[in-house]
Amino acid sequence: MTVISKDISKAIEILNNEDIVAIPTETVYGLAGNIYSEKAIRKIFQVKQRPLFNPLIVHIHSIEKIDEIVSELPEQAKRLAEAFWPGALTLVLKKNPNIPDLITAGKDTVAVRIPNHPETLSLLQKLSFPLAAPSANPFGSISPTNSTHVANYFSNTISMVLEGGACKNGIESTIIGFENNEAVLYRLGSISIEEIENVIGLLKVKNKQEIAPNAPGMLARHYAPKTRTYLVKNAEKFIKNYSNKKIGVLRCSNGTSSLNCMHLEELSKKMDLKEAASNLYAALHRLDNLNLDMIVAELFPNTGLGKSINDRLERATRNE
Ligand code: TXA
Ligand code: MG
Repeated sequence: MTVISKDISKAIEILNNEDIVAIPTETVYGLAGNIYSEKAIRKIFQVKQRPLFNPLIVHIHSIEKIDEIVSELPEQAKRLAEAFWPGALTLVLKKNPNIPDLITAGKDTVAVRIPNHPETLSLLQKLSFPLAAPSANPFGSISPTNSTHVANYFSNTISMVLEGGACKNGIESTIIGFENNEAVLYRLGSISIEEIENVIGLLKVKNKQEIAPNAPGMLARHYAPKTRTYLVKNAEKFIKNYSNKKIGVLRCSNGTSSLNCMHLEELSKKMDLKEAASNLYAALHRLDNLNLDMIVAELFPNTGLGKSINDRLERATRNE
């Protein structure tokens, strides 16, 4: 049985014992362990059923800790860290030799961020080691944005979820790496390309095939519901062809038009993409639990966080 609790000292005890705890962050819940404990890190991979070639993100509580993790901090990385930490930005940087290969999948780079969540920052401050934490979902399934999602996934395998409420951003961090002194986007996330470019100018965005080997968060099928899911331009039109099916629709909202559909998730009535992103995974979890014949998601405006939402929906809707 998994205990959902706010008891930080209990979480510390478990982590000091080389075991793992699910922790809240502003993006999604993570499955955390001591980066220096091989036992804890192996358990993270095993519980998630995650392939060992897929590296983990290191979480620290303050920029002063960065020297323990990385060997170089390029000027642009420094500016991004100053602008967005604590927050939903992960930087991929040259790693320090003391960072275990298990964390980085043998790469010479390491992903690092300072999460913006009071409980988790306070937990990190009280520990003598940083925490590695991938999203707290089985490999390939929908990411968790509240403690119940996590407990439902791992009731038999983890002993504690640190309760931190619903995740404010609701979509994973944006991942940026540096190649030949140039900032490169590895994963769209809860900080938009526009916000990043306001700080460092033009950001190189590789096409998906180029990114794939670097960030398996970019694997084609990822973030996926069990229910067959379609991504369409116009949900109302699409579902007319399936009048005999049990259908759930997920969309931003188009204000006035009502939809003849029993299970409708409208992520933001005022078309606010930040609000929509924060509701995305919880809505997918709800729809996926209804035993529907299909989920029909409608494309979001392709700007700002709409790009990140569309990216996740595209991955959720690859059906093979
Ligand atoms: O918002 C988030 O980033 C959440 C919370 C818990 O912090 N974490 C998260 O972790 O989404 P995960 O493991 O689900 O996704 C991390 C992604 C993976 O796609 C991984 O391949 C990529 O980061 N990554 C990690 N280290 C890397 C590296 N050295 N180079 C390139 N990509 C890396
Ligand atoms: Mg993940």
